[in-house]
Amino acid sequence: MQQTYNAFVTGSTENPRWAYVDGVFVPFASAAVPLEDRGLEFSESLYEVVAVINGKPFRLADHVERMLQGARELGLQEGVPPLARWQHVVADLWARERFDSAILHAQLTGGTAAREHLPGQRKKPLFFAYLRPFTFPAPSLIAQGIAAVTVPEMRWQRRDIKTTMLLPAVLAKQQARQKGAQEAIFVGQDGYVNEGASSNVCVVRSGVVASPPPGERLLEGVTLKAVSELCAELGLPFHRRWVSLSDLKGADEVFIASTTTLIMPVVRLDGQLVGGGKPGPITLRLAYHFQKLFTGEQTAAAGSGPF
Ligand code: PDD
Repeated sequence: MQQTYNAFVTGSTENPRWAYVDGVFVPFASAAVPLEDRGLEFSESLYEVVAVINGKPFRLADHVERMLQGARELGLQEGVPPLARWQHVVADLWARERFDSAILHAQLTGGTAAREHLPGQRKKPLFFAYLRPFTFPAPSLIAQGIAAVTVPEMRWQRRDIKTTMLLPAVLAKQQARQKGAQEAIFVGQDGYVNEGASSNVCVVRSGVVASPPPGERLLEGVTLKAVSELCAELGLPFHRRWVSLSDLKGADEVFIASTTTLIMPVVRLDGQLVGGGKPGPITLRLAYHFQKLFTGEQTAAAGSGPF
């Protein structure tokens, strides 16, 4: 039986003790969001998940920029703290929690207003964040890979915005779990692959790494950007192009990329073996170099910056 990867199951069950809510640090257990928060009632809300190793956030500036882009779309840009504030918040939360390995969950909502789709009064956005202990996949797990299933795309049209409207993603992950898989891959009505329920998808064919083009059909991953940089460094061609379902199923190698899965080989897809059921050499090479980058950037950052 293949070892399964479910981040929140393999992760520590220890709870955070602190949260940063609307500018102040409060005990996690008493931190609360009002019932008429527009994030809760209308999904007028954005989020980021940032890897934090030994107190050092991985590629924080990319995450802040992505939240800012989404916030401009929702008219909430004034609520996104500047990068220096995020750095301070991560450092302060970490000093309180001292988790070796964690994710920062940061969320921006439309704030509280009497329930109306478009409230008459301008409301103040709410920003909150906390660190949750998290175990990233170990090299031994990456060496095994995971199973994935494909599911019809049923999310909204602006998937480039990192909103908290995650019910379709949760339903897709449930389908995956029922079929013994760890990730669901959304396929559009036109038969082209978009992305995973919480990851980007890459295929490798004849030594070329490819991922669907940027645009409204998928979220531009911070991890995917790192993949493209690594390909350039390693001299591997990296293309953004449409990937059909048959292209995906016939690929030499398939992998997913995200903050929490890192670069994770997909070795089984809809019950069929991918690449003979073993992670392929290019995926493993990228995964190896990504691990180095992931841990190396934390170490490099340790001696500099605001920490
Ligand atoms: N999700 N696509 C979707 C739909 C995602 O939810 C994610 C990440 C990604 C990859 O983005 P990044 O490399 O920046 O993490 C792509 C996070 C991890 C989550 O929801 O927990």
